[in-house]
Amino acid sequence: MALKKPYEKVPGTRIFDAERSRQGYHLNMFCMSLMKAENRERFLADQRAYLDEWPLSEEQKQGVIDLDLNALMDTGGNIYFLAKIGATHGLSFQQMAGSMTGMTEEAYRAMMIAGGRSPEGVRLRDVAPTPEPSPSPTHAKVTASVFTSHVPAVGAAIDHGKTEEPYWKPMFDGYEFSKQWMKENTPDVIFLVYNDHATAFDLSMIPTFTIGTAARFEPADEGYGPRPVPVVEGDPVFASHLAQSLIQEDFDLTICNDMKVDHGLTVPLSLMFGQPQEWPCKIIPFAVNVVQYPVPSGRRCFALGQALRRAIESYDVPLNVQVWGTGGMSHQLQGPRAGLVNRAWDNAWLDKLIADPAGLSQMPHLEYVDEAGSEGIELVMWLIGRGAMSDLDGGPAPKVTHRFYHVPASNTGVGHLILENQ
Ligand SMILES: [Fe+2]
Repeated sequence: MALKKPYEKVPGTRIFDAERSRQGYHLNMFCMSLMKAENRERFLADQRAYLDEWPLSEEQKQGVIDLDLNALMDTGGNIYFLAKIGATHGLSFQQMAGSMTGMTEEAYRAMMIAGGRSPEGVRLRDVAPTPEPSPSPTHAKVTASVFTSHVPAVGAAIDHGKTEEPYWKPMFDGYEFSKQWMKENTPDVIFLVYNDHATAFDLSMIPTFTIGTAARFEPADEGYGPRPVPVVEGDPVFASHLAQSLIQEDFDLTICNDMKVDHGLTVPLSLMFGQPQEWPCKIIPFAVNVVQYPVPSGRRCFALGQALRRAIESYDVPLNVQVWGTGGMSHQLQGPRAGLVNRAWDNAWLDKLIADPAGLSQMPHLEYVDEAGSEGIELVMWLIGRGAMSDLDGGPAPKVTHRFYHVPASNTGVGHLILENQ
């Protein structure tokens, strides 16, 4: 089933959605540049030269020069952004709006003074109904979920060739099976749930759920220099589809077209894929705020995972998708209780994640903090991956392909699980 866009049928109307935003990203960012006086001056002095500094299509550049707002919206422009071009030329918003209607400026102004355009004859009821497209025979599927801690020191051990040292070897041995399994079960796309650790997001903005819709995501410099790992290739079209589907299911995501990814995302990839020249599949980053309270509940994450599976299955491309939940397990990185590890609690939590995820999703924040340490709260992110498995929609229980637990990795109890849909 394709994502429904009933708003596309409203006469004379273009809705700016995630798909249009992707198409018009550079056009709209060019418009934003006109909010600086020096840029407006340069633009007016030589429009073509200024436009050539931006990766725009010829159609978009010509649309800007012609100030053809309809054409610009057709190529992904949004009216609030495009208005900066009009403002640069000294036009009012009424002049800009009128320019799209085929009316003269005077006639448009007169229409507005007379009470505005009548809705008669320009609503959905006035257009011939179009048949619903027949359902697609193919769609994307969640084949497996993968869960793992994402300790930064693990990334450093890989990057500096220390995986065979006695301290690290027992932990990395737990991922040997996983690396082999990944080779045989490489998906087309990984939906990778992680948290940002004061890297892409500082305290100027704290989005609860962020989906990465960019084409590429560079590894971030977290203070030690960027990890020497490949750039992450995204899937903007699929990610935009998922964003729209999830938001329509009332999950208020932040859409991010430009962000760097930290160890929360890259360490799980290194653990599962080793050190390839390129990551062997596309990755959609999904960042969850677990740094500043309030953080989302396990219940909310679990419900989001269930909505995510529906969103994935409504995509008309036969992709093999894995959903990964990362972070945890028990660790406390701060204060006099730093170093807390609760091995019994971690393993009981894994048992419940496998057998009773709905019950587990009811666990309150306080229990995570109290039993698994302040940073143990990261485990709520695993419930997104678990929620995406098909047993929660009447399918058989997932196969437990691999389970591993080890203490310590730096300050953390490391947990790892692979579940496959049957
Ligand atoms: Fe983390």
